Amino acid sequence: MILGVNVDHVATIRQARRGIEPDPVMAATLAILGGADGITVHLREDRRHIQDRDLKILRECVPVELNLEMAAIKEMIGIALKVRPDMVTLVPEKREELTTEGGLAVKKQKANIRKAVQRIQGAGIPVSLFINPSVDDINVSKEIGADMLEIHTGLYANARGKEQEKELLKVIRSVKEAINLGLKVNAGHGLNYFNVKNIVSINGLRGLYIGHSIISRAVLVGMERAVKEMKELIGKVK
Ligand code: PXP
Repeated sequence: MILGVNVDHVATIRQARRGIEPDPVMAATLAILGGADGITVHLREDRRHIQDRDLKILRECVPVELNLEMAAIKEMIGIALKVRPDMVTLVPEKREELTTEGGLAVKKQKANIRKAVQRIQGAGIPVSLFINPSVDDINVSKEIGADMLEIHTGLYANARGKEQEKELLKVIRSVKEAINLGLKVNAGHGLNYFNVKNIVSINGLRGLYIGHSIISRAVLVGMERAVKEMKELIGKVK
C-alpha cells in the first residue's frame, strides 16, 4: 500500500509569517527520504498555504508520485495542464472551511466534474475523485470516468465507539464496491497513528493520503533536537 504525504501544513506554518520557512519543498524531500511513495499538495483558490511557486518547484524535484489536489475550476485546470503533476485529485473547496469537509457532490455536479476529468485526462494525467463512502457516489464516479477514487475517511476518523464501527463498515463497503467496478481505490482524511490500523486492513486499497497527523508528529519528534541545536548556538556566546 502506498503512502502519499500531504505537506500543506508545513506551508501553513510558513504562511503564518509570510516568510520562507519552513519550506514545504524541503519537507517533501525529507518525507521521501523517510519512505513516502508520493507527495500531495492542495493548491487552494485563496492560496492560504501552498503557493504556485511550491507546486512548480515540487514538480521539478519530486521523484515520486506528485498528487495535486484541487477544485474542478478553470483556473486550477489550467495550472494542472501546465505543471503536469503525476495525478490530480479533485476535491470540493469552500473558502470558509478549515480543511476539506466532505467528498465531492458528484451527483449534483456531474456535468462539471466530468468536463474537468476529461480535460485533465486529455492531457494524459490520471484523475482521482475524493468522495464520501457512498455506493451511489461510487457508481456516479464510475460513470464520470474517473481513473481512481479516494474514499473520505474523515467521518470514520472523527467518530467514536459504535458510530466509528458503522463508519468503518461504510468505508469497507465502498472500497469493495469501487474495486468491483474496476477502479483503483485510495483512502484519506483524518487518519492518524491510531485509527489507521483498521483502514490498512481493508483488502485491495491502493494507498493512503495522510497529512495533518504526520506533520503534527514531525513537529513534536523534531522539537528536542531543534531546541538542543539552538541551546548549543546560544551556549557558544557567553
Ligand atoms: N485527502 C484529501 C482529499 C484531503 O483534502 C486531505 C486534506 O488536505 C487529506 C487527504 C489529508 O487529510 P489529513 O491532513 O487529515 O491527513
